[in-house]
Amino acid sequence: MENITTKKKVMLSGIQPSGDLHLGNYLGAVKNWSVLAEEFDCYYFMADLHSITVRQNPAELRRRSVSQLAQYIACGLDPEQNTLFIQSHVHEHAELGWILNCYTMFGELSRMTQFKDKSNKNAENINGGLFTYPALMAADILLYQADFVPVGEDQKQHCELTRDVAIRFNNLYGDTFKVPEPYIPQVGARIMSLGTPTAKMSKSDPQGCVFILDKPEDIARKFKRAVTDSDTENCVRYAPAEKPGVANLMSIYSAVTGRSFAEIEREFDGKGYGAFKPAVGEAVIETLRPIREESERMLADKAYLQQVYTNGAQRASAVARRTLRKVYKRVGFVEKPF
Ligand code: TRP
Repeated sequence: MENITTKKKVMLSGIQPSGDLHLGNYLGAVKNWSVLAEEFDCYYFMADLHSITVRQNPAELRRRSVSQLAQYIACGLDPEQNTLFIQSHVHEHAELGWILNCYTMFGELSRMTQFKDKSNKNAENINGGLFTYPALMAADILLYQADFVPVGEDQKQHCELTRDVAIRFNNLYGDTFKVPEPYIPQVGARIMSLGTPTAKMSKSDPQGCVFILDKPEDIARKFKRAVTDSDTENCVRYAPAEKPGVANLMSIYSAVTGRSFAEIEREFDGKGYGAFKPAVGEAVIETLRPIREESERMLADKAYLQQVYTNGAQRASAVARRTLRKVYKRVGFVEKPF
């Protein structure tokens, strides 16, 4: 029997396999995830069922689902300490997703700002899945009786809807689902584009974006070209409003070396941007080197990754199955005799 008093709370997050991880993802979020496993029973999955709500190239989707998993592991998500899997491998997601569609209202789904945004961006493909996306996301969360879902601004509304659906179902049929709480993750550094330091670092702006798999020479080049400021002061000083480019480079340097802004100002006193920019590049190269090497090692060893996501799906499915069975019974389905 599990000891109820020492059982960890459950935390769950889905990740869309939409592109390679970059320095902003790593320093701003993923770097902090590895310690969560000490406190929580953590589930992370590649949300490929969600991805096809917008048109995907099949070969790319397949490649990215595995490659991104490897990158997260390389960033410190230990597959022994966390349950890592691919959403489509655990068929309970699609099954509970259907059921929750029947307990999620048209009006609720119509109010989702992400649906409105995505339909504007994909006017030629406003499909039913895009509309019912939040019901599948509710299924993802409720299957594992998750206590916490780490959410950024963009997913808050979906999380609220998940709670509403869980409460509605529980009111109709008795306690079935744990009603999850949003978990406000400890934010790391907020990393901006190296080219446009007023915009967040993003993969849609590759010159201003450092990917964790970038080669050292590419990282060095991107930092050498980084925008500093338009004045001629040429002085490493933390003044985010006046010198957003310098402030961003200082934040990056601080995040990878652990040095304070005051220490950094002293270190580069009288040296100017010509010395500062390559130094930040070098520090980033050294931080990312083991992560890139570990990713490459795993990507060359497909059998290892396959074993990780097989184990993950088996663990996840054992939990998901119990919830789904309970739900089938509650809604009135005939018990499956085989
Ligand atoms: N919708 C999330 C995103 O786009 C991904 C996601 C799918 C998710 N299922 C989830 C996140 C369950 C948290 C919990 O980022």
